[in-house]
Amino acid sequence: MTIQFNDETFYDDYTFRNSEWAIRRFPFPFHEDSYMYSVNLEPHLSLRPGSVFEKTFDVDEHYVSEMRDRARVLAEDPLRCQSLPHMTLAGWDLLELIMDAKAREYPDLFELHRDGDRWHWINKPLGIDQTFTFLDETTLPCGPMEYITRQAQGDFALLDHRDDNLWMDAGMVTTQADWSLDFDIGMNFYEWHAPVPKAHEMGVFQRALKFLLNLQQGAPVRRLNWTMTVNPLLDTSPENYHKWGVQKTSVTPENVGSKYHLRVELQTLFRLPRSNALAFPIRCYLIRLEDLATVPKWGRRLHRVLRDLPEELATYKGFIRNRPMIVDYLSQFDDGAETSPGI
Ligand code: HEM
Repeated sequence: MTIQFNDETFYDDYTFRNSEWAIRRFPFPFHEDSYMYSVNLEPHLSLRPGSVFEKTFDVDEHYVSEMRDRARVLAEDPLRCQSLPHMTLAGWDLLELIMDAKAREYPDLFELHRDGDRWHWINKPLGIDQTFTFLDETTLPCGPMEYITRQAQGDFALLDHRDDNLWMDAGMVTTQADWSLDFDIGMNFYEWHAPVPKAHEMGVFQRALKFLLNLQQGAPVRRLNWTMTVNPLLDTSPENYHKWGVQKTSVTPENVGSKYHLRVELQTLFRLPRSNALAFPIRCYLIRLEDLATVPKWGRRLHRVLRDLPEELATYKGFIRNRPMIVDYLSQFDDGAETSPGI
């Protein structure tokens, strides 16, 4: 196989590590020295071989361990995966989208053989060999959305399109930045975005929704979002806040570079063919600050972005308390040089 999969954990002893390869291809999200919300959507086209933007669904060295972490979280809390009854068809659409893309783009890792509606799926990294009938739930061990998202990195929301709005009516959410599927299920685009500061007044959500309602099949889009996380914890959910929230108090000037991680979400949006629903995969990438700073322009830029970030955003993203320590640590990587826009 072309990718060497890490054997690592994202909780307790946190053995997660990025290889040199993973550091170099990290999706650094800032194209200038400051940050504010915007409708930062662009076509999800293949870009730069080896980058996280090359494939429809990026598979990397963390794949096997992330899937193990998902199974662990689901075993503790099955409500991280929910699908309202009318969303089963969208689940099949998603299954097809992911299987087809993975088999086409990673033929050494995944295979999909179709004979009419009899399908044969082989997932070599996870050791899965499954024959089933497309659109017949009784031939899979669980529903189609759950089945395929237990084999795909990142969270997934499936949005029903009706009444000129999008409704979060299904999802698999175990690697989220402090929001809850169980709380948001059944909400619409404005309702689930209600806690976000500033963006509503700026008209960001109105413009984004208008754009998404017109999204066409075969023309997916993407955007990046980001936050900061203490320890390489994938499951920063409100459900488990009592476990991870307290870790923010464990950060000191000595360990801030290894404890704090920039958490970047590569979010993509696809119109699905049979259900007319939207699929919203949210793929999480983590990098510790000391690894990030090995790329000098990233260390310099992150220092400026975090230093100047409006207080409401630093509060919402949950690092206002430790911001002075993080900024102080990053200042050693900022030589004061002028930078030009672009990543
Ligand atoms: C935050 C879901 C599309 C912009 C969030 C949150 C959720 C969410 C659950 C967390 C809200 C909370 O605090 O509870 C979704 C879903 C989308 C979607 C399911 C698919 C339709 C978009 C788009 C934009 C956007 C297209 C484009 C501007 C934002 C922003 C935040 C946010 C700016 C705040 C993030 C932060 O500061 O960390 N979204 N979103 N979302 N969303 Fe979306």
